Amino acid sequence: MKNIIVTGGAGFIGANFVLHMLNKYDDYNIIVYDKLTYAGNLDNLLDVKDDPRYAFVQGDICDAEMVEATIQKYDADTIVNFAAETHVDRSIMNPDAFIQTGVYGTYVLLEAAKKHGMRYHQISTDEVYGHIPEGYSSVETDKLDPRSPYAASKASGDLLVNAYFITYGLPVTITRGSNNIGPFQYPEKVVPLFATNAIDEEPLPLYGDGRQMREYQYVIDHCEAIDLVLHKGVLGEAYNIGTGEEMENVEMVEILLKTLNRPHDLIKHVKDREGHDRRYSLNIDKIKALGWVPRHTSAEAVEKTAVWYRENEWWWRKIKSGAFKEYYEKQYGHRWQTEK
Ligand code: NAD
Ligand code: TYD
Repeated sequence: MKNIIVTGGAGFIGANFVLHMLNKYDDYNIIVYDKLTYAGNLDNLLDVKDDPRYAFVQGDICDAEMVEATIQKYDADTIVNFAAETHVDRSIMNPDAFIQTGVYGTYVLLEAAKKHGMRYHQISTDEVYGHIPEGYSSVETDKLDPRSPYAASKASGDLLVNAYFITYGLPVTITRGSNNIGPFQYPEKVVPLFATNAIDEEPLPLYGDGRQMREYQYVIDHCEAIDLVLHKGVLGEAYNIGTGEEMENVEMVEILLKTLNRPHDLIKHVKDREGHDRRYSLNIDKIKALGWVPRHTSAEAVEKTAVWYRENEWWWRKIKSGAFKEYYEKQYGHRWQTEK
């Protein structure tokens, strides 16, 4: 492995992964290949923009010619695919781009990897397992049971990756991460949305009763686990990456408000998300057996993320004052009226 294409590397987790890799290894070249959708942001990569081991290409993973030209230009030997549409609420409003990128785009990358004999790693999610009843945690061999268009697009990607391993012997691995939080997360996702709203003393729209459970994990922990699987993972296998502890949204909000010193009455219970998965829970024994442990608890991750948003207004204020406003009105406008 020498020349690694990181698709979706200008997004939240992808950018953190690129920073992690360039920081940890001297001898890898990283080529970020990203369409720069509303969620892609070169501000996330400012720290490495002049690094000779880093290059940026603006391109769509559905564009086979551009993918091919990029692999050839940089003599790339590895693809790590973060590129996706990632917000469940947007997938409910309009699934089209989710299917394009998650299904067709993944297929384009797999074809390119097959042609050039490349190592391929797919970034997936705990959402492919669907809602998990209490008392159980998902293992990697469980059947995929996605319930939102987003989750279905990701599960489809996983199935394609598996098919390329079995049919063509492509050297692949998959990681299924739980909810990531930390620097550079677009403020449509719950933790950065609530942190930035709280900083501005705006209401926090908590869906339904707020008792849904998520495993909030610190993004750098996730990136370290992906790095480990890329180097030591067994080919053809999937690995769950989480904290092993779930947290209700109501608890997450309390930690946020306490960290930011904001009042409880900012919380507004609003109409629930359609088809809302109440609980995800990952069994992480398999990734632990490779030698990884999460370095942050969920509570620490929430606190650290809140502090980052408080200290980095330069990053998020321009996002929230732009096209985001239109999305926010569309997504939440009617919800305030249905407040419980
Ligand atoms: P993000 O929305 O912040 O970033 C996605 C990036 O992909 C953006 O830079 C965007 O421009 C790019 N992109 C989108 N469509 C593209 C296309 N067709 N071609 C090229 N680039 C394209 O997402 P994120 O939160 O960083 O998630 C990254 C990956 O991790 C996704 O595959 C997601 O499913 C997965 N994941 C996310 C979480 C989470 O909590 N955020 C948890 C588990 C897994
Ligand atoms: P989100 O960050 O969208 O991630 P995902 O749905 O992929 O897990 O949401 C995390 C949790 O927070 C989920 O249970 C939905 C809830 N949520 C709210 O209560 N209010 C919000 O405004 C948003 C965006 C999410």
